[in-house]
Amino acid sequence: MSFLQNLQCTVCQKEYSKDQALNLCSCGGVLFAVYALKKIAQSFQKKSLAQRPKNLWRYAEFLPVENEGNIVSLGEGFTPIIELENLGKKLGLKNLYLKDESFNPTGSFKARGMSVAVSKAKELNIKKICLPSAGNAASAASCYAAKADLQAYVFMPKDVDFTFVLECRAFGAVVNLVDGLISDAGKMMNQQKQPDWFDLSTTKEPYRVEGKKTLGLELAEQLDWELPDVVIFPTGGGVGIIGMWKAFDEMEKVGLIGKKRPRMIAVQAEGCAPLVKAFREKKDRVEEWKNATTIASGLRVPKPFADFIVLKALKESKGEAIAVSDEEIVLSLKEMAQSEGIFPGPEGASSLAGLKKLMAEKKIDKDDKVALFNTGSALKHIETLKKFYS
Ligand SMILES: Cc1ncc(COP(=O)(O)O)c(C=O)c1O
Ligand SMILES: [Zn+2]
Repeated sequence: MSFLQNLQCTVCQKEYSKDQALNLCSCGGVLFAVYALKKIAQSFQKKSLAQRPKNLWRYAEFLPVENEGNIVSLGEGFTPIIELENLGKKLGLKNLYLKDESFNPTGSFKARGMSVAVSKAKELNIKKICLPSAGNAASAASCYAAKADLQAYVFMPKDVDFTFVLECRAFGAVVNLVDGLISDAGKMMNQQKQPDWFDLSTTKEPYRVEGKKTLGLELAEQLDWELPDVVIFPTGGGVGIIGMWKAFDEMEKVGLIGKKRPRMIAVQAEGCAPLVKAFREKKDRVEEWKNATTIASGLRVPKPFADFIVLKALKESKGEAIAVSDEEIVLSLKEMAQSEGIFPGPEGASSLAGLKKLMAEKKIDKDDKVALFNTGSALKHIETLKKFYS
């Protein structure tokens, strides 16, 4: 099972016991889970994976849940990697892949983080969870809370597609809608928060990142332990990028992969691109983005809390950050649906829009093996998308 050792602050390196429910370090820094990687290296064998369940819990050694009975699973993870042959031909790319995260419970990659964070919350005897969300994280948290018999309190912008509200209410969560963005939802939550609510905000607790880490493990396993040259990921709070980057590091330390890393590319929307601005200006932190607006609601995060961790991963990987317009997102969404039979959410479509822009800037070579991510289903965005199809 788990080889979780302790928690450690990403800023001051202070260590904490794994047996307590924690949010941030006393210095305000993000806490990361640390594993006994040498022990994993001695016992883990790639061939043992053949017998394991086809969900993210197949990587239990790298996950924080210690008692198997606490795992709250609905079959999340081990989503398909699909070769985009038609789009590849059109764009002149020989090796173009898409990891389709819409296959997850509640239709988005947020299920990964929530399956792991809710399981660990159960293990730590937490009964109530709360979080602000752009939509998908609230849906996933409500879903796993229902399965684990926890009460969820979710806070979302009031202009979210009604699908998200519907889903959260169906799972029994208490839904609060805020006139504003996810940052305003966070402020409202902090005003209403009760002492027994455990805060599951992005990167303000250590275990959602652990669930997202399995994106990196799967990418390697499904591509026969040879990572792609380029990963293009729709980025809001940045946990997808942070999780994969942590996975690659741990996988190298246990000998599952070598030194090669993909160039990590964060795609944001032109109407909310704080990470792109900071990356291009070679800054370590972002400035809060004013008047954030985009149809890719999951990318509407004006000030990612773990900005410096995302920016560091992009830099270390010799990656990039790129902004795409809503028009480009809609064109890519239509193109992916018509060329490949995959109907991505606007966030997922932004990864194709980003690829096209990078190719125009000659930043991708035709021989590069490129992995795009469809982080969620278009069907979560019916209200938003109907005007493009009526
Ligand atoms: C479908 C989708 N894609 C991407 C993102 C951005 O994810 P992250 O905040 O981990 O960068 C979100 C966040 O809500 C999302 O819902
Ligand atoms: Zn610290």
